[in-house]
Amino acid sequence: MRLGCCYYPEHWPEDYWAEDARRMVEMGLSRVRIGEFAWSRIEPEPGSYDWDWLDRAVKVLHDAGLGIIMGTPTATPPKWLVDSMPDMLAYDTYGQPRGFGSRRHYCFSHEGYAKACDRIVSALAGRYGHHSAIVAWQTDNEFGCHDTAISYSPAARDSFRLWLAAKYPNVRELNSAWGNVFWSMEYQSFDEIELPNLTVTEANPAHWLDFRRFSSDQVVRFNRRQTFILRAASPGRDIVHNFMGFFTQFDHHAVGRDLDVASWDSYPLGFLEQFWFSEEEKQSYCRQGHPDIAAFHHDLYRGCQQQGRWWVMEQQPGPVNWARFNPAPLPGMVHLWTLEAMAHGAELVSYFRWRQAPFAQEQMHAGLLRPDCADDQGAIEARQAAKDIAAIGDVGPPPRSVALLFDYQSDWVTDIQPQGKGFSALRAAFEYYTALRSLGLDIDILPASASLGGYAMVVIPCMPILSDDLVTRLAAFLGPILIGPRSGSKTESFSIPPEMAPGPLQSLLPLKIIRVESLRDGIKFEGDGFAVSRWIETVETGLEPQMTLADGRGVLYQADNIRYLTAWPDCKFLQLAIGNMAREAGLAVTPLSEAVRIRRAGNVAFAFNYGSVAARLPVEPRNKFLSGERQIPPAGVAVWRTD
Ligand code: GAL
Repeated sequence: MRLGCCYYPEHWPEDYWAEDARRMVEMGLSRVRIGEFAWSRIEPEPGSYDWDWLDRAVKVLHDAGLGIIMGTPTATPPKWLVDSMPDMLAYDTYGQPRGFGSRRHYCFSHEGYAKACDRIVSALAGRYGHHSAIVAWQTDNEFGCHDTAISYSPAARDSFRLWLAAKYPNVRELNSAWGNVFWSMEYQSFDEIELPNLTVTEANPAHWLDFRRFSSDQVVRFNRRQTFILRAASPGRDIVHNFMGFFTQFDHHAVGRDLDVASWDSYPLGFLEQFWFSEEEKQSYCRQGHPDIAAFHHDLYRGCQQQGRWWVMEQQPGPVNWARFNPAPLPGMVHLWTLEAMAHGAELVSYFRWRQAPFAQEQMHAGLLRPDCADDQGAIEARQAAKDIAAIGDVGPPPRSVALLFDYQSDWVTDIQPQGKGFSALRAAFEYYTALRSLGLDIDILPASASLGGYAMVVIPCMPILSDDLVTRLAAFLGPILIGPRSGSKTESFSIPPEMAPGPLQSLLPLKIIRVESLRDGIKFEGDGFAVSRWIETVETGLEPQMTLADGRGVLYQADNIRYLTAWPDCKFLQLAIGNMAREAGLAVTPLSEAVRIRRAGNVAFAFNYGSVAARLPVEPRNKFLSGERQIPPAGVAVWRTD
């Protein structure tokens, strides 16, 4: 695994560059990402390019021995371009254009902007496509960041109508699929259909779901357009895009099909603060991040590229600037996060950013270096990580063990009609993942279309729309399968299936959901050593429940190797159910204390302590430790060979 950093030569005096490059190499970095926000310097005026400075920057970095990942600058269109076609802006949910003055001010559906991107990407790729310094291209930057994958612009509306006309044979079929007879919503032509944002009360969920699918397709097409240009102009270089954390506005599996490498931007402390975690978790992990945040995304994005190639394109090096509260990582965490990525098979971890910028929006965001050029804590830990990576050597691929299925459409469905606060397919995936990992299991997060061959066990936390193809593959799978509530509860066009939930799963499991309830915060039903909350289903079935609540209601039903769960479980419930399944599947279970996690890659095992007190590894490795020891300090790592 290599290390790298994100660097902005245009932010610094030119006489810094050579020394910066020298220090990067000295620190153990061999990759540097540049260029992704530099459009205004590359093309200061329409059609007039200034390559001199970038040529010199590329040369200085290359001469120092760094391989360059060049970003296309399309996340930051310059002012002259926006002024030349103001309708390229994305529109917010209130129908207002989102203005110039930060970044990502464009609509994915605007053809004029797409053509401007073709031009700048072609110019950049033409200039550097064959340059020996360039090892990879990053398309744009964080598609969808700042809530921008969805736009309610006139361009989006026009494209959405065309998309619908291509999907449905005629508007009558659309009316029927969406159920538009309800509330007299029927259309006479595709041109009458508006975007679903400005309705009086909620728009038809089928309308929303098609709009979400359309919005996702627009991102896929936008990215693909750049990959065509880059592949032709720069053969042999990897094409990568940097995804975000807990972000589902487009189908990352679909974008990933056009990439050589999936990558993501890992900011565990910011994500802990900004997402659904409890106050208690936020308190105890504020300087480490929840133990599964980074790992979950590593395993998710590995599954987004067909060969499983993935990087961390941006790694948090210290406090960030964008969360509600921005604490500093516990000393050791930057090193720990780096090795956790290695344990999940990353090819690269690149820190964001080389040096903290003293100006503009992110002046409070740490870098590896302080604004005065001195090493910050991140630099010290990156150096240590480089040494450890070299000492550990190459690790093999992550083992195939548990397949957790997640698809983006599931999260669109639960977002469009949550039916109860806090019900999210993404959150369900994360919580099942946490339970699996707390038992020491290795997990791959896969799309619904993935082959299940070689896995010992399959977990589907929540997949409302289930394809017949997946049901066929589940029927053929011999290991234990766990399926969570709401799976199979909707048709392709967002209706209740004729046979009711769990829809097509009824061919595998004789059970019908006849009522669902969402539960307010604080309401819990207890069982023996576990509780359920948020959601509970009533079933009609001849099956005997495998697990019940204290009041006798069944919450887990099983037919052959398939288990169906009728409620939103707590971690203890999942640990019980998954522990039984893992034993049936012949997988070794290692119950871990709350803050400790284990991951295997090839014949190397890694253990991580996300706690603020020392922890003892519950297993006694047969071999000598490659790094660390059985007693793991806070933010510590232990590594050993398993053969
Ligand atoms: C990422 C983004 C970077 C920078 C960073 C700050 O979302 O790609 O450009 O803004 O966050 O944490």
